[in-house]
Amino acid sequence: MPAQTFASSGPLKGTIRVPGDKSISHRALMFAGLAVGTSRIEGLLEGEDVLATAAAMRQLGADIEREENGTWRVNGVGVGGLLGPHEALDMGNSGTSTRLLMGLLASHALSATFIGDASLSGRPMNRVIAPLSQMGATFEASAGGTLPLMLRGASPPVPIRYRLPVASAQVKSAVLLAGLNTPGITTVIEPVATRDHTERMLKGFGVELEIGEEEGERAISVRGEADLTPCDVTVPGDPSSAAFFIVAALIVPGSDVIIENVGLNPTRAGIGAVLRQMGGSIEELNPREVGGEPVADLRVRHSSLKGIEVDPALAPSLIDEFPVLFVAAALADGTTRTTGLEELRVKESDRLAAMATALASAGAGVTEQEDGLTIEGTAGEPLRGSANAEVETHLDHRIAMAMAIAGLASRDGVRVDDTAPIATSFPSFTELLETAQR
Ligand code: S3P
Repeated sequence: MPAQTFASSGPLKGTIRVPGDKSISHRALMFAGLAVGTSRIEGLLEGEDVLATAAAMRQLGADIEREENGTWRVNGVGVGGLLGPHEALDMGNSGTSTRLLMGLLASHALSATFIGDASLSGRPMNRVIAPLSQMGATFEASAGGTLPLMLRGASPPVPIRYRLPVASAQVKSAVLLAGLNTPGITTVIEPVATRDHTERMLKGFGVELEIGEEEGERAISVRGEADLTPCDVTVPGDPSSAAFFIVAALIVPGSDVIIENVGLNPTRAGIGAVLRQMGGSIEELNPREVGGEPVADLRVRHSSLKGIEVDPALAPSLIDEFPVLFVAAALADGTTRTTGLEELRVKESDRLAAMATALASAGAGVTEQEDGLTIEGTAGEPLRGSANAEVETHLDHRIAMAMAIAGLASRDGVRVDDTAPIATSFPSFTELLETAQR
């Protein structure tokens, strides 16, 4: 458990690049593993979560190699061709690996056991078990529908129409991926739009996918027994990783930084919209498309932020960015209120409780509600910091990184109890933070 103190060492300057998008990286490995033939992936995030997906796909029969130049080469087994793993699939900290692979395996005639770390083993899996059971898969889960769990794939699987009871791209993707090896048409209806990387990339791999509207809700249908055509994928920079540097530049006086190659898919772009509403100066330069996703370079300058009411309808488009948004709010002028964030309680940690405690120990004015936080900002005055008390990250990379950023805008620095989880999504975070402040 390496503890570390984060304190300001000056403004963020120059040009930086964040690693590849985590959501897109998982999907690229999985879909390439289902295509017959060779796919190549550029810019893959080499974080622990994605490496867990790569290891699992290898256990399921895909041939996956990293070439010396950093390109990943995948030879897939074909839809329906996944093999039963001899050993448990160790998902580490990764909810996305777990839920998407459960979907993929649910329509294959095989058994698999999923295990994970203490954080993942506390997270709810009933949200995928329910629809996948309707398709014919069976599960033996630990108490409360958690890992370790054993899955027996359906044989033959049956197609379903499923309306998402929670706004979750992971559940949507799990059902669509199960649909790939299911005869007939599998449909997911999402009352609230969530990230659409699965839909975009499946089309890129040649899958017949229809996106329509039913009574004002988005309906996504996939035709099963699909053939995936091998594909070359370029993964754009992760907006969720960029968010830590965006907020750092906004709150550290004198900062003016360019973050290159940031993914700006509209289903992920909520953090930019909310920070601009707070008065943040974030300019999009050189907009372009990378790997079927909109991308731009972002120029971010130190700004006087003001507190706002965050529209809960935007939550799915910045669901992973709330920890660092709370840090921005703690430095803003006035009160920021967030609501409708119950989902944050079932992420890698209970992010409402973890951030309320961590920010309070760093001297911020914060009140926790059932579905959000209310934060009184300092109007740009540095936070006191928490040099003598470690903030607890609860095996959650985003709590660790958000509080590291809070440390840059604090008098005494912020001591984070455990920086190891950062490697799940952003192994170069600390180094890049030093580079940006040199
Ligand atoms: C993800 C979806 C989101 C997000 C997670 C990645 C994905 O989870 O929080 O970090 O890649 O599909 P939910 O689907 O649980 O909202």
